[in-house]
Formats: sequence, C-alpha cells, structure tokens
Amino acid sequence: MTRDLRLGVNIDHVATLRNARGGALPDPVRAALLAEAAGADGITAHLREDRRHIRDEDIAGLMAAIKTPLNFEMAATAEMQKIALSHRPHAACIVPERREERTTEGGLDVAGDEARLAEFIAPLRDAGIRVSMFIAADPQQIAAAARIGAPVIELHTGAYCDYHAEGEMEAHKAELSRLIAGAKQAADLGLEVHMGHGLNYETVTPIAAIKEVRELNIGHFLIGEAVFTGLSAAIGEMRRLMEEARA
Ligand code: PXP
Repeated sequence: MTRDLRLGVNIDHVATLRNARGGALPDPVRAALLAEAAGADGITAHLREDRRHIRDEDIAGLMAAIKTPLNFEMAATAEMQKIALSHRPHAACIVPERREERTTEGGLDVAGDEARLAEFIAPLRDAGIRVSMFIAADPQQIAAAARIGAPVIELHTGAYCDYHAEGEMEAHKAELSRLIAGAKQAADLGLEVHMGHGLNYETVTPIAAIKEVRELNIGHFLIGEAVFTGLSAAIGEMRRLMEEARA
C-alpha cells in the first residue's frame, strides 16, 4: 500500500549504539525489520565517509533483508557513487558531509555546485535509483535541484526543530513558513517533496500537514524514544500523529 504521506525510519543510531561497544549488537537490520512491522514505509541509512554508524556490511544486510524501499543517504563522492551503483537501492539522498559535524548540519549547496552535481547524479538516475537532494528551503536551491534533473528534494527541517527546542517561536514559525513555501515551489516545478531532520512528536504535526510533502525521514528521536517505550510503540505513535495531521 502506498500511503499519501510515507514514514522513512532512519536506523543510523542503532548502529551508533552498537559501535559504542564494538560488537554486533544492537543489530540495525533487526531494527529495520521491526520498524517495517511497526508501520515504517521505508528504511533510511546514511553510510558516512568515516563509517561512524552504518557500515558497508549493514547496507548489504539491509538490501538483503528489508521488504520496504531503502533510502541510502550519501555524500556526493566517487566512493559513495560506486557503492550506490553496486547495491542499487530504491532511493539515494545526496547530503553534504563534513567529518567534524555531529550530524548533517546544513543543506547541500546545489546552486553553487550545479554542473558537478548534475554529472554526479546522472549515473544514479540511469541505474533507476530515485535521487533526492537534501537542501534548505531556499528558493535558489530548490530551483537548482529542479534544473539538475533530481526528481525529489528533501527539505531540511533542522532549523525549524532547533528553534522549537530553544523556545524561539517567532523564528520557528518563520522557518515553518519557509518550508511551506519551499514545498509549494518544488511541487510546482514537478519535484516530489520529502522533509526530515530533528523531527519529534511535537514538531511533526505542522510538517505532516503540508499537503505537498510525500515522505518524512525520522531517526534520532525515534531511536531515543525506543529506549523508553520500545521502537514499535514509538513508530506507531509517530504514524498516528502523521495521519492525524493529514486528516
Ligand atoms: N534526513 C536526512 C537527509 C538526514 O541526514 C537525517 C539524519 O541522518 C535525517 C533525515 C533524520 O534526522 P533525525 O535523525 O534527526 O531524525
């Protein structure tokens, strides 16, 4: 069943926990299977250049085990392009990556690197991988993503969530307005719109209510919440909130 608004569950931080001890547990593939059973429409995993959480063998394990689409988050590097082409996941989300950052801090500068990124994504598209560009809700970046031929964009909700957490509600509302306008601009350009980063039970509702948005990718909060309520319950509650917002 294809839902009007899909939930991609990012399982990176199950691998973060595993790597803290150096063994095999907890297993991110097991988390992915549980997430699917709990209502995830897809699984997202970011193979970072430094392999700080997801590792190469996790991608192979996910490709072999999961039934829902894999959204492979990757930097625009030759190494990651080769890995993506060898696995041919359903989707590849191109993200900026810097070694010193704790998480993906900003959107990709598509407008400033248009020719290279157009060339970079072409073989992925030719291989049948649905390419999305992870960008800020900036009109110039959205227009550039459309020009390079990406079929999908994922708008970065990090600032919107951070302002909410800090109680800066004016700035939070301004970010929400930018996301709403960005989603409309992108849909008018024929792009499919996804959103994600930092979303939780409180911040998800206004985002899920944006009718152009077709997919949310959520990780850190769900894995953290799973410590208290279990992963199935956390995903179930997130899905419920998404559906409530949509209705
Ligand atoms: N979307 C993208 C492109 C990301 O890089 C991340 C973080 O890996 C997420 C969504 C999920 O963010 P979070 O883990 O904060 O929910």
